[in-house]
Amino acid sequence: MEIRKVGVIGCGLMGGGIAQTCAQAGYTTLVREINQELLDKGLARIDAAWQKMESKGKLTAQQAAETRERLRGTINLEDLADCDVIIEAVIENMEEKLRLYPMLDRLLKPEALLLSNTSSLSVTQMGAVTRRPDKVAGLHFFNPAPVMQLVEIVRTISTSDETIETVQQFARSLGKTPVLAKDTAGFIVNFLLIPYLISAVRMLENGVASRDDIDTAMKLGCGYPMGPFTLLDYVGLDTTLWAAEAIYDEYKDPLYAPPPLLRRMVQSGYYGKKSGKGFYDYQ
Ligand code: 3HC
Repeated sequence: MEIRKVGVIGCGLMGGGIAQTCAQAGYTTLVREINQELLDKGLARIDAAWQKMESKGKLTAQQAAETRERLRGTINLEDLADCDVIIEAVIENMEEKLRLYPMLDRLLKPEALLLSNTSSLSVTQMGAVTRRPDKVAGLHFFNPAPVMQLVEIVRTISTSDETIETVQQFARSLGKTPVLAKDTAGFIVNFLLIPYLISAVRMLENGVASRDDIDTAMKLGCGYPMGPFTLLDYVGLDTTLWAAEAIYDEYKDPLYAPPPLLRRMVQSGYYGKKSGKGFYDYQ
């Protein structure tokens, strides 16, 4: 099946980055948010990234104009009806996803693919509430989506070989390197990354070392581009908490039990960079 038009649901940090990536790769892209204010905010963030790329000479003025032309925003789900593929990047809440998927299933043409950017929720459960579970898979991007090379393709027991092949080709056409994972909580990356991040929070809670020393240690000792607290703020403390909870729910392994400090920070609205405050201040 040929993909020409991509619909992205959600224009937050991940949805916006995914929409940006698709438009840059030459796809006609429509991104949907729940209200105009959130949509304007998301589109402005994408536009700022393109301005920066233009000023750095990564995009010519003509390329930037053509790329902008390919991206549109909407607040109406119905406008996505003629998309060949949907990438869902809404809040990591299963109830929300289970409400959305049957609506999309009714709206889209029968051959359209439904892909979720979920980082740790069950893609199988999302497919099961549609009449096209063979056309439902995970396509998990990493923040910042336009820059990070990897995507995880998540295969459920119902996803067809044809769907996986199409998604692999699509991922490559976006300039990404796909890896394939089964639909188990955390897939590959978060299954390994979440224990690392929450162990850093536990170390801080237990007074083993300071925030700055833990960040410096992992940056300079292991060559990581960011220390764990900088990365936690970058990914979002709320996103990290949801991912930890989802993996803990599946395996009941204490390695994934969210530390109290992480939970208290999220309860206080300290989501990281996006809220202006996390382990660091951004105001
Ligand atoms: N669009 C286009 N380009 C962008 C961009 C965007 N949205 N964001 C950053 N860039 C570009 C910059 O312009 C810069 O380009 P240049 O090299 O030509 O100057 C390049 O990316 C690098 O950015 P910076 O110079 O600003 O900063 P760094 O060199 O420090 O790199 C980083 C930033 C790429 C974020 C790097 O620090 C990094 O790789 N950090 C780790 C990120 C990571 O681990 N992400 C995965 C998180 S896990 C996840 O997302 C999964 C989820 O489910 C939890």
